[in-house]
Amino acid sequence: MKKRYLIGNLKMNLNSIAETEQYLVSLKKEIFGKRIDGVEVIVAPSSTYLERFSRELPEPVLLGAQDVFWEKEGSYTGQVSASMLHDLHTGFVIVGHSERRLYAHENDAEVGWKVRAALHENLHPIVCVGETSEEHDQGEAADVVSRQIVEAFRDVPPLLAERVLVAYEPRWAIGTDTTPESEEIFEMRIVIHRALAEAYDPAIADKIPVLYGGSVKASLLDRVCFEPRMDGVLVGRESLYPHELVRMVNLLGEHESLEREPIQEQV
Ligand code: 13P
Repeated sequence: MKKRYLIGNLKMNLNSIAETEQYLVSLKKEIFGKRIDGVEVIVAPSSTYLERFSRELPEPVLLGAQDVFWEKEGSYTGQVSASMLHDLHTGFVIVGHSERRLYAHENDAEVGWKVRAALHENLHPIVCVGETSEEHDQGEAADVVSRQIVEAFRDVPPLLAERVLVAYEPRWAIGTDTTPESEEIFEMRIVIHRALAEAYDPAIADKIPVLYGGSVKASLLDRVCFEPRMDGVLVGRESLYPHELVRMVNLLGEHESLEREPIQEQV
C-alpha cells in the first residue's frame, strides 16, 4: 500500500518557548489514540526549536526542518548543516521553498546542492517547486517546474532519487486562500512525473511522492489531494492548529484510494 504524507511547515511561527510547549502538548493530546495507518506525519518547526521538538514530538510524528545549507561545516554564519539536522533526529528537510527563493534569492542550482547535502546525511529532502503568478498567467508553469525538477535532481543517482519527495506549491496559492482546480494540479503532477521519468525512468518516477501545498485545509483535501491523485499535502497555516492537523491526517488515512495506479502520461 502506498503511503500518503502530511507535512506541517510551521514557518517562522511559535515565537516563544511557551508557545512551542503549548503546541507540543496540544499535538500530543490530539494525536493520542488516533489510528493513522498509511499516513506519514512530519512537522517542521523553525531551527531554533528543533531540539525541543526532537525530544517531545509525540509518536509517530516525525521531525522535519525548513532548510539546510549545502556545505558540511565552516565559516557560514547563520547556516545549519545536514549533519546538525541528522544529529537531532531530523528525518526530512524542506528545500527550495518559494519563500526561500523569494526572500533569500535561492536559485535552482543551490536547491540542487542542498538536495545532495541532505541525501548525504540520509535525510529525505522535500523539494518545493512551483511557478509565480506572472509565470502562471503567461502559461509558463510547466516549463518552470520542469526546469526546477531537472536542477534539483541533477547528479542525484537513481537509488537516492527515491528518497526525495516533491511538493508542487504554486507561489500564487501560498498564504492567499486561492487554490488551483484539481485538473490544474493533476496537469502539474503529470509534468513533474514526466520530468522525473526523463531524468531517470518511469518506474523510478512512480516511486517519488508528489505532494500539493498552498492554502491547504481539511475541507479542500478532495480538491487538492484526492482528485488530482497526489501523494499528500504540505500545509502551512493550518498546521499551526494541532486539531486541524490531526483532522487532516485522519481524512488522509480514511481515504480509500491508497492503492493507486501508477501515474502515466494522461494529458
Ligand atoms: P499555506 O498553507 O499557509 O498557504 O502555506 C503553504 C506552504 O507554503 C507550505 O510550505
